[in-house]
Amino acid sequence: MAAVTTPRVVSGMRPTGKLHLGHLMGALQNWTTLQEQYDCFYFVADWHALTSHYADTADIVPSALDNVADWIGAGLDPEKSTFFVQSMVPEHAELFLLLQMVTPIPWLERVPTYKEQIEQLTDRDLGSIGFLGYPLLQTADVIIYNANFVPVGEDQVPHLELSREVVRRFTNFYGELFVEPQALLTPTPRLPGLDNRKMSKSYNNTIDLSDDAEAVKQKVRQMYTDPKRVRADIPGTVEGNPVFIYHDAFNTNRDEVEDLKARYRAGKVGDVEVKTKLAAAVNQMLDPIRERRAAALARPGYLREVLVEGSRRARAEAQATMARVRAAVGLQY
Ligand code: TRP
Repeated sequence: MAAVTTPRVVSGMRPTGKLHLGHLMGALQNWTTLQEQYDCFYFVADWHALTSHYADTADIVPSALDNVADWIGAGLDPEKSTFFVQSMVPEHAELFLLLQMVTPIPWLERVPTYKEQIEQLTDRDLGSIGFLGYPLLQTADVIIYNANFVPVGEDQVPHLELSREVVRRFTNFYGELFVEPQALLTPTPRLPGLDNRKMSKSYNNTIDLSDDAEAVKQKVRQMYTDPKRVRADIPGTVEGNPVFIYHDAFNTNRDEVEDLKARYRAGKVGDVEVKTKLAAAVNQMLDPIRERRAAALARPGYLREVLVEGSRRARAEAQATMARVRAAVGLQY
């Protein structure tokens, strides 16, 4: 019987600041579930951070270490998954370069995130080759490990489509070298920010995984809720109300949530009670994350060690792939 190998999962996160509840629900919880079943490689996409943060790089390494502490807080385990840093595996850049030879520029220009980001991030010049190449570098990140699955949010699906097209084109020239990766869509729906806009660090509307209990209470107190309810005895709307979206997402006491919804609809509960209970539920959910995060941060050198060791493992895999790729391209001396 042929040996059955565990399918491989690869995903990355850009180290551009603190991680928040959106990262937890949109990525980390899913990554944590996947590590029980798959051979998972999770990495700090520091070169991807540079594509838009090239003008101020001081935050990248501190963000990387802080983010990895949050990964561990969320339940990811470096004994089960391989954690690494993209720039510590320079073979990603070599493969990226080879992929560029066969990738038509319009394939990159028509990736939806490309024009969107250029229009949205008007405070910086994204007219660089590096930024245009973003999804192609992402392709290299994934295929260098022969990843079968790539857990990502919906916005990243076109990047994976590009990856598969590039793999097919590379195959046409040099033979079959890579697995065509598949997106694994994160099952949880998107959480709104505290102000009911899209959750984003730049809107200052996030609850961060590193926030303490008091910060969570204050943020929840200021959360956007049904604006029609200027008094507690006015019936309110639960659907689409961020306070209740958060209750549904984080409050494990379902009876309490149903009771609050019923009284909210009837105009029989004040916002203070609804929000106090929400803050308690969020804090209860965050407590074990905070504990694991603090334990990881309390060990001097631990996070760096995890990343060095994981990057060594990842690099051995990437080097094996690149030996095959160089031979197939005809660059063997
Ligand atoms: N583009 C991804 C994001 O913004 C981050 C990323 C970089 C990534 N390389 C990757 C995700 C490879 C999955 C696989 O979320």
